[in-house]
Amino acid sequence: MSTLKSTHDNAAAPPDAAAPRLTLAALVRRLAALRGRPALDELNGWMGAVEVGPEELRPHVSFKEGTYARHRVFVNEHAELLVLCWRPGQRTPIHDHNGSFGAVRVLSGVMWETIFEMDGGRGLAYKYAREWTPGHVTGADIPDIHQLGNPDVSGRDLITLHLYAPPLTSLNVYRVGRRDSYNTLWLNSWNPTI
Ligand SMILES: [Fe+2]
Repeated sequence: MSTLKSTHDNAAAPPDAAAPRLTLAALVRRLAALRGRPALDELNGWMGAVEVGPEELRPHVSFKEGTYARHRVFVNEHAELLVLCWRPGQRTPIHDHNGSFGAVRVLSGVMWETIFEMDGGRGLAYKYAREWTPGHVTGADIPDIHQLGNPDVSGRDLITLHLYAPPLTSLNVYRVGRRDSYNTLWLNSWNPTI
């Protein structure tokens, strides 16, 4: 029996074909014009509207063997935009975003997201899981605790677009059955923990 629920019940719907489209460059211009922190609804709206063409995406695509690869597209004091590239079997640790909103759009491949909750008695516990496919957007509110990854059974690479506000500076990393977490201040390309 699989423990993975494949639902999009509480997810943003796939983008409406009639909705205004945003290129990656247009999204970057919108982020560059921010004068304050955007709301999670705004992040979800932009990520639902963005369409990243192959020419725009190509400079941000490369993979690593050991862990997923992070490519920063844009950052300012209010927001950060990243492309992440995952081989089958690569995934994040269990984490939250330490106060940042986050939104993720799958560009190609399949992403599995596992959601956890802190139980006063048991510590961190599994809550549910979701599967995300191209065109769907998932937003992480505060203090959502989750784990993202490209399942090893997918048989193909995964490419995702991530928008955080404010930019990620550190994360809290958790373990199942524990009540404590540790904060990572070493967020960089060789030890990514998004
Ligand atoms: Fe995350």
